[in-house]
Amino acid sequence: MVLEGKKILLGVTGGIAAYKAVEIASRLRKKGAEVHVVMTREAARFVTPLTFREITGQPVSLDMWEEPAHWNVEHIALARMADVCLIAPATANIIAKAAAGIADDMLTTTLLAVKAPIFFAPAMNSAMYENPVTQENMAKLQARGWHKIEPATGHLACGGSGVGRLPEPADIVREMEETQARGKTLAGKKVLVTAGGTLEAIDPVRFIGNRSSGKMGYAVAQEAAQRGAEVVLVAGGTVALADPPGIRVLHTESALAMREAVLQEAADAAVVIKAAAVADYRPKERAKQKIKKNDAELTLVLEKNPDILMELGARKRETQILVGFAAETQNLLAYAQEKLKKKNLDLIVANDVTCPDAGFNTETNLVKIIGRDGSIKELPLLSKQKVAKTILDAIESLQK
Ligand code: CTP
Repeated sequence: MVLEGKKILLGVTGGIAAYKAVEIASRLRKKGAEVHVVMTREAARFVTPLTFREITGQPVSLDMWEEPAHWNVEHIALARMADVCLIAPATANIIAKAAAGIADDMLTTTLLAVKAPIFFAPAMNSAMYENPVTQENMAKLQARGWHKIEPATGHLACGGSGVGRLPEPADIVREMEETQARGKTLAGKKVLVTAGGTLEAIDPVRFIGNRSSGKMGYAVAQEAAQRGAEVVLVAGGTVALADPPGIRVLHTESALAMREAVLQEAADAAVVIKAAAVADYRPKERAKQKIKKNDAELTLVLEKNPDILMELGARKRETQILVGFAAETQNLLAYAQEKLKKKNLDLIVANDVTCPDAGFNTETNLVKIIGRDGSIKELPLLSKQKVAKTILDAIESLQK
């Protein structure tokens, strides 16, 4: 219903998935939206403007220099008119041009003037998608508030399979609807997120660590920022991810350093989400010089680290929402429920780290979200971004 009566600017760029944009346009129209298509010249090699004109019942814009269909300077009129904008498929080229602010055709020029929310659905070969320059460009757009629709993984037009497929048109439209319905629901709220594993030094060159990459925590932080929250992200020493723009990132190494940062930031946070894999123990002695080998056995004595989440639970304010994670290899539900009670949490996200494609250093996760009230929400294997959305939905429903 949220798209009914809305004027949607659909930007179509030149990838093989352009044919799917026809179905997107059709679905949007069936939802009651008025769809205005702006195509690049390259897109018109895959699908003709005529197809979109027939599907949308509206003129299609392609050229800066053709007769205007509206009374105003065409690209400005289109930008002003839009309630929502969607670029699907979004090629690496349009993403790079938009990130750099280039305006050299109808679509890029229009995009520069759009004030409405912009969604973009990247679709390309997986090597192009994973290239750091594409990743940086997408992060730039997201930092400016653009909403990225995650590409699907599967068969690609170039042969082989990987990440980079345009999701099904129905899924794209659903995601737009859900996001539009949600809005900036966390505006004015401070959300503190921890991510990654901690490193506990043995000597100046060695440490004890774990396999956590921080991807889950980063996804949660980015989703909270998309919903308008002021986000502080405390990263542990194993994290090698780029700082998401628009989020205050505090880099720490050990559990003790993470504790200090977290306790300082938690006091005024409305929500605290502890996705970090904190080491339970640290070497009792940290050798000042590199330990030299000899023929004898080496014994490391470990001492206990403080449990940061337990401390947060003990000092939790009535209105603060505290969310923990439980990474388990057995008795998932029972252990997670026990941690929820012991640490005074509102929610715990339990994940079975023995499952392939879930847990440490994967793109996807398989979790159950357990509530203080005993509720259990079991999710299928999803991208970490989708898991992050569901976690934030659960938090928002507690706030109501
Ligand atoms: N946690 C924490 N400080 C610690 C250990 C854990 O804040 N020293 C937090 C984690 O960030 C996570 C939750 O507690 O949100 C559960 O962590 P997990 O390692 O699964 O459980 P532990 O309580 O450490 O118990 P165990 O290792 O015995 O399973």
